[in-house]
Amino acid sequence: MAGGQAYPVGYLDGAFVAAEQVRLPLLAPGVTYAASVFEGIRGYRMENAQRIALFRLGEHLERLVRSCDVLGLDEIPSVEAMEAATLGLMARNPVDEDCYIRIQVYVGGDGEMTARGPTGVAILARPRPQLAERLQRGVRCQVSSWRRLSDNASPPRAKAAANYLNGRLAGLQARADGYDTALLLTEAGDVSEAPGACLLMVRDDVLVAPPVTADILESLTRDTVLACARQGGGVREVIERTVDRTELYAANEVMLVGTGMEVTPVVGIDRFAVGDGRRGPVTRQLQDAYFAQVRGAAATPKGWLTPVERQLEKSE
Ligand SMILES: Cc1ncc(COP(=O)(O)O)c(C=O)c1O
Repeated sequence: MAGGQAYPVGYLDGAFVAAEQVRLPLLAPGVTYAASVFEGIRGYRMENAQRIALFRLGEHLERLVRSCDVLGLDEIPSVEAMEAATLGLMARNPVDEDCYIRIQVYVGGDGEMTARGPTGVAILARPRPQLAERLQRGVRCQVSSWRRLSDNASPPRAKAAANYLNGRLAGLQARADGYDTALLLTEAGDVSEAPGACLLMVRDDVLVAPPVTADILESLTRDTVLACARQGGGVREVIERTVDRTELYAANEVMLVGTGMEVTPVVGIDRFAVGDGRRGPVTRQLQDAYFAQVRGAAATPKGWLTPVERQLEKSE
């Protein structure tokens, strides 16, 4: 699996199998026509405990079902079935560190572009340590000349594999030009998001988030961090509104938020330093608040932390 070696047991279409067997058929519409949606979920080691818990698993799966709906898939697996498959997979693997789970739902078989099934489900997990240095030093971003795809073309609200071509093009350009990652503007020229994370900006003690109508994925991390900020995250106010490109250059702080990026400071944009070019105090405070949530060190709303039970002795 991209980013590292998967744990030995995977899941494919109703069965727990060796991770190497979790492969999609090349001619399936899920591959050729990108009729495929996915979720990425993190598991964290709880503070002061040996336990691992998955963060906002239920809501990731609800979003996955909504993505399946938008793509017109048949036989959409239920949240309960995918939760059981995910926890079953985790129970069968030697998971005792921070980790990452990828769930892919796709159109298998060898049908045409409008095929709605057969619907397949593939799950793999792997260890995923935190990138402590990146969390501290931050990343430098380029505002891309590629535009964010729009809701009426390939809706970013669905976490569809097809949408990641847009992010890939922007990311390739940013890397070629010496940046870490990209920021995309909407067709209307407003700030949207990064290829795999949402953006938040601090200006004059106000935390500003581009709205969910800015062609973004409706991110659970964004929701978590905004909630942390509203509960006292070092800002006077939290607002969701359209953001102009040049506001990014004037911002005191900018951060990228997502399951993968967690809460990563943006320290430069288009050769401009953000603030003083280092992680700012609000970002730092929100990182602390976020990690307290995901590691169970702060009170979280019901259902946000799903414990993983180790059942290696019962594995098949
Ligand atoms: C395009 C995009 N935006 C935002 C996010 C953040 O979403 P979440 O916080 O739910 O992981 C992701 C995935 O991590 C993404 O791929």
